[in-house]
Amino acid sequence: MGRPKKERHKKGKKRKPPKPRLSDSADRYALYQQAVQSPPADIEFFTRVFADLRGRTPIRLREDFCGTALMSCEWVGSDPTRRAIGVDLDAPTLARSWDLNQSRLSDAERRRLSLVCADVRDLAETRADMTCAMNFSFCVFKQRPELLRYFEVAFHGLADEGVFVCELYGGTEAIIEFEEEREVDGFTFRWQQETYNPISNETLCHIHFDMADGSKIKRAFTYDWRLWTVPEVREILEEAGFASSRVFWEQVDDDGDGTGEYTATDVEENQEGWLVYIVAAK
Ligand SMILES: C[S@@+](CC[C@H](N)C(=O)[O-])C[C@H]1O[C@@H](n2cnc3c(N)ncnc32)[C@H](O)[C@@H]1O
Repeated sequence: MGRPKKERHKKGKKRKPPKPRLSDSADRYALYQQAVQSPPADIEFFTRVFADLRGRTPIRLREDFCGTALMSCEWVGSDPTRRAIGVDLDAPTLARSWDLNQSRLSDAERRRLSLVCADVRDLAETRADMTCAMNFSFCVFKQRPELLRYFEVAFHGLADEGVFVCELYGGTEAIIEFEEEREVDGFTFRWQQETYNPISNETLCHIHFDMADGSKIKRAFTYDWRLWTVPEVREILEEAGFASSRVFWEQVDDDGDGTGEYTATDVEENQEGWLVYIVAAK
């Protein structure tokens, strides 16, 4: 066997630059929004639930853990009287909000939006009609006193008729090491539960994006969470001062596929994976 040949470059001949990969230019926040968020459906749900509870439409939204504030931007665009305040502690994430979402708002819409870079537990006086904590973000609080403190702040940040909404996931596949993927327009969204500890209910999860040219954005986002159970969340909400809470479960069609319709319920069969809205009223 001869020695491996050295790569020779002929004088004057330029090496071809490597072909750009889609993963180099893709914006992980834009991919996240496309794959994970659907504010129009959430806003329709918030409006219906609030109207059922209070007999009017909600005007002021507080979006906790807002990230790029997609929801807040949709909210101010959904009604000319609506206002939104988005809260996130990560300044670089908030900064992406401009290009991705705020830039397409009118001046009038933008005037009804404010973003605050802060810990959600440090912002009390917001007098919101609704506060939302989407995509399981509150699971970042792993100790009961921490979560109770957050729910207390959420309670005090609401107006008298205020309503708090959060999302939670669970099911038999939520408590194992697990990976699933979903095709989105032009890329694949991969959700990985790397670890789950049954002693603490802590789970370490990642989002990866696989691009159409085979390039990848590995660990685009990582979440180190405690997977709270529905009764724990409801008990802590009550302890924080909320008068009542309801669980809204997604309805399925005859083939067992989710319909996108959520209804309040007290009894359900466990599933491999479920996602609920928990709605708490002052
Ligand atoms: C799962 S992302 C949610 C993004 C988006 N709002 C959504 O619903 O999909 C969680 C966000 O919470 C923020 N975050 C984590 N802990 C926080 C805290 N204590 N206070 C404020 N924001 C926090 C992170 O910076 C991150 O942007």
